[in-house]
Amino acid sequence: MSEKRKVIIFDTTLRDGEQSPGASMNIDEKLRIAYQLEKMNVDVIEAGFPIASVGDFEAVKKVAQVIKGPQIAGLSRASDQDIDRAWEALQYAGERGRIHTFIATSDIHMKYKLKMSEDEVVAAAVAAVKRAAGYTPNVEFSAEDAVRTRLPFLAQVVEAVIDAGATTVNIPDTVGYTMPKEYFEIISYLRENVPNIDKAVISVHCHNDLGLAVANSLAAIDAGAGQVECTINGIGERAGNCSLEEVVMGLRTRQDIMPYTTDVVTEHIYATSRLLTAITGIAVQPNKAIVGANAFAHEAGIHQHGVLMEKSTYEIMTPESIGLNKNKLVLGKHSGRHAFNLRLQELGYNLEKEDLQRAFERFKDLADIKKEIFDEDLVAIVADEIIRVPERYKLLEMSVTSGSFAAPTATVQMEVEDEVKKTAQIGDGPVDATFKAIKELVGIDARLLHFSIGAITGGTDAQGGCSVRLELDGREQLGQGAHPDIIVAAAKAYINALNKLASLQKRTTVDV
Ligand code: KIV
Ligand code: ZN
Repeated sequence: MSEKRKVIIFDTTLRDGEQSPGASMNIDEKLRIAYQLEKMNVDVIEAGFPIASVGDFEAVKKVAQVIKGPQIAGLSRASDQDIDRAWEALQYAGERGRIHTFIATSDIHMKYKLKMSEDEVVAAAVAAVKRAAGYTPNVEFSAEDAVRTRLPFLAQVVEAVIDAGATTVNIPDTVGYTMPKEYFEIISYLRENVPNIDKAVISVHCHNDLGLAVANSLAAIDAGAGQVECTINGIGERAGNCSLEEVVMGLRTRQDIMPYTTDVVTEHIYATSRLLTAITGIAVQPNKAIVGANAFAHEAGIHQHGVLMEKSTYEIMTPESIGLNKNKLVLGKHSGRHAFNLRLQELGYNLEKEDLQRAFERFKDLADIKKEIFDEDLVAIVADEIIRVPERYKLLEMSVTSGSFAAPTATVQMEVEDEVKKTAQIGDGPVDATFKAIKELVGIDARLLHFSIGAITGGTDAQGGCSVRLELDGREQLGQGAHPDIIVAAAKAYINALNKLASLQKRTTVDV
């Protein structure tokens, strides 16, 4: 029997994923994701773009210092300054540090963005790879917008960078333009026309503008690509990147026609997906493959009957294979700290003693009013109580009156930069009144871009989960809050967004 080829999983949630609107994460949040990716056993974690900001640099450095299994990559343009800065952060990963340098190769990018000729681009790419190779043998080169590049020129660039020391060559579909058949042919062309191609791993990096990122990545693997770049939940610029869970589960499920393996521990997929949602506030659409709320739901009677008789009638993979214990009643009022901690660990949260105590107290409060506590409740507790930015503004107490004849009135007491303040406001509805009161107390008039509220689990005793997106001086942040009282959840989400705006690191814009 022929041996299955291993595909390297390169996760770029912390770099390309973080470029999703509203997905910016602080260092602590990035570390939580990095630990989870390590647990999931991805091969490479792209931790950021060190020259982009001090925050990015510090995050890459910290991830390089603490993560022990996967390789750690940092992005750089094809310039000395970028490469030096990338290595400054990556050096702590030692041999596992990877410099990922890139320059665009398509006519349209060279002409309008770079204003460089083909020869100049080849020279810049070679110089960048050589400089990176002076720091580490682990160098990846990306030909940005590769799929819209003239193929003979793409082959020329790839050959030149491999000669210069690149050990991975990435062929990105930067604008999500290609189709599976075409991408298969591009990868095949490079394998046939680049004489030194066997000295490097071919990597693929697909964006999802036409909804084909996963299909294109799978086609490229079939054509011989050895690395796939992807993100959790498929987050990323515009329509996102290739989704890690879809490509990995696709390979796992269709071993009959896709004889390739990955080292990903798929049982951690669900927890990782939920952790990312908790941190970024970017919800997964219910019908999303693999990790959507409905991915394993069988509503139709005929399906339910079939699944009860024999799971494989309608289930092509088990919920357990992604670590989902469907509808499992996890904990109740009498559960102790040990059981609570164990379940949190299964969900991917390893909390420090103090955080665990806070989360446990919050759980006990919830269990007093809610009979059944599900995984979703625990994720909401951790998101709400633990994954928090420093709180410049704190909600202390609030009460709201509303109804069909009384003017909705919110009375809110907060701690604003260590000073206790209280006010009452009337609004069009209870949420409006609450937001007006908070605005008055903090003295910040951020623009409300989005507001949504929903039940975290089923039942009338379910916790309300709320998301609020605010904009201030051109910067956007998404806040989240959870509470059995939906208006309190809304207030917490609003205040969370304000705290995030307050703690946001100013990013230097990097022209690429
Ligand atoms: O989409 C893209 O081309 C990229 C590169 C920097 C790899 O993200
Ligand atoms: Zn990209």
